[in-house]
Amino acid sequence: MLEAPAPVMHMLAFDTVGMRYADGTQALHAVSLAVPAGQFCVVLGSSGAGKSTLLRMVNGLVTPSSGTVCVAGVRVEPRALRGVRRRIGMIHQQFNLVQRATVATNVLCGALPEVSTAAALAGCFPAAFRRRACELVAQVGLDERHLHRRVRDLSGGQQQRVGIARAFMLDPAVVIADEPVASLDPRTSREVLDLLKRQARERGTTVLCSLHQVDLAREYADRIVALRHGRIVFDGPPAACQPSVLTAVYGQVPVPHAALREAAS
Ligand SMILES: Nc1ncnc2c1ncn2[C@@H]1O[C@H](COP(=O)(O)OP(=O)(O)O)[C@@H](O)[C@H]1O
Ligand SMILES: [Mg+2]
Repeated sequence: MLEAPAPVMHMLAFDTVGMRYADGTQALHAVSLAVPAGQFCVVLGSSGAGKSTLLRMVNGLVTPSSGTVCVAGVRVEPRALRGVRRRIGMIHQQFNLVQRATVATNVLCGALPEVSTAAALAGCFPAAFRRRACELVAQVGLDERHLHRRVRDLSGGQQQRVGIARAFMLDPAVVIADEPVASLDPRTSREVLDLLKRQARERGTTVLCSLHQVDLAREYADRIVALRHGRIVFDGPPAACQPSVLTAVYGQVPVPHAALREAAS
């Protein structure tokens, strides 16, 4: 007898998710999206499209007003939050590092869910975490000299490398990156996205990364999910993200970027 095929494992599953903030703003309308394990999924959209709202639901920073979000089959809800958060790394647009602390301390902060507050305050991290922090710092292209530098003395690109190292500290199943390169110049943006994608590929990490730049989305995404006014207006591979789609994403506003001009010519 033939066995039924195994169901596809979706690492992230948003089911008819809606979000209405207290002031009445409807940020998301019945969004459904399933992201398989290991995918680098870019959420593309202009400012106010609902990207951050969607991403922040994954680790429970925003609670949907309707619908459900599951991570590895576990529903994100108050009693499950601790467990879910251990499996998620987060990378922020403004890096969210402790500016006066060293690179080593910031990277070690990625292990906080596994270390008691008292130990962390005293700077007592287990040796295994210290070794891991050193490895990660090297993997993100910083050298040993950087370990004891204060973050505030680093460039934006270097700070985001620290942010990536911190996010991968507990070898998360999922990394949420909310506009990780919005504060960086184009060249540094590509370096940082290269690095994020490589780290994720090597570990099989699922990435949900929001971007507002179409050319970067087309270059790095396995899949692009475009949001406009809180609705999915495109979901497909980068090659299918043609100018007509971009008009749907950005409305009537022309988007002057090289990839679009090439696609249109
Ligand atoms: N805490 C909040 N209270 C009220 N409205 C909010 C809040 N956060 C976001 N919004 C609104 O929700 C919509 C989507 O915002 P957001 O998810 O931040 O979009 P994006 O990240 O794509 O710029 C916007 O209209 C924004 O002003
Ligand atoms: Mg945002």
